[in-house]
Amino acid sequence: MSSIKIAVLVSGSGSNLQSLIDKQGKDFNGEISLVISNIKDAYALERARNHGIKAQYISRKYYTNPREFDQRLLEILLENEIDLVVLAGYLKIITDVLVDRFENRIINIHPSLLPSFGGKGYYGIKVHEAVLERGCKVSGATVHFVDNGADTGPIICQESLNIDQKWDANELQKQVLKIEHEILPKAVKLFCEDRLVVENNRVYIKE
Ligand code: GRF
Repeated sequence: MSSIKIAVLVSGSGSNLQSLIDKQGKDFNGEISLVISNIKDAYALERARNHGIKAQYISRKYYTNPREFDQRLLEILLENEIDLVVLAGYLKIITDVLVDRFENRIINIHPSLLPSFGGKGYYGIKVHEAVLERGCKVSGATVHFVDNGADTGPIICQESLNIDQKWDANELQKQVLKIEHEILPKAVKLFCEDRLVVENNRVYIKE
């Protein structure tokens, strides 16, 4: 099977992008051919450029609504013949314009054990603050396919950790990020090997 062409959508520092860059072509048979950011000075863009990956900034402000913005994103993805879209810290809700055209070909990393602490308002450090406020004893990360809901798509993989009661939200975020850097490349590998089967909102992994 030829190498899978991957686009990574980002908004921030891009440490998850980096974990994919480090493993592409080695741990999985895929190539990151495009990085798109909706934030101009996202460090993720610099990471991409440092590795000779095409990096593009698209400003939301020139589009009247989210669907129109996604229509432009879709055009770019199609022009670049992208097979898989990875949302790695992309802080925009994806609309049906993208989801329907890339059904089960968009994956997202979320820094909690979904369905807990997912959906509207749960992003970045807010997730970890909420986990600690609730007094949870475990947390973790989830990689899932993106559907038309917020963090509701079929779950590909999850990994948990025990919370040390001395941790603050920043420490919890740091610990969860370590898990993210492991499970996101793992999910991408499974996708590239064509081993993910989605049935009734469940993901089965072919042996
Ligand atoms: C990660 O925690 C990711 O799960 C969340 O945003 C953060 C992005 O981190 N959605 P980075 O930009 O990959 O460093």
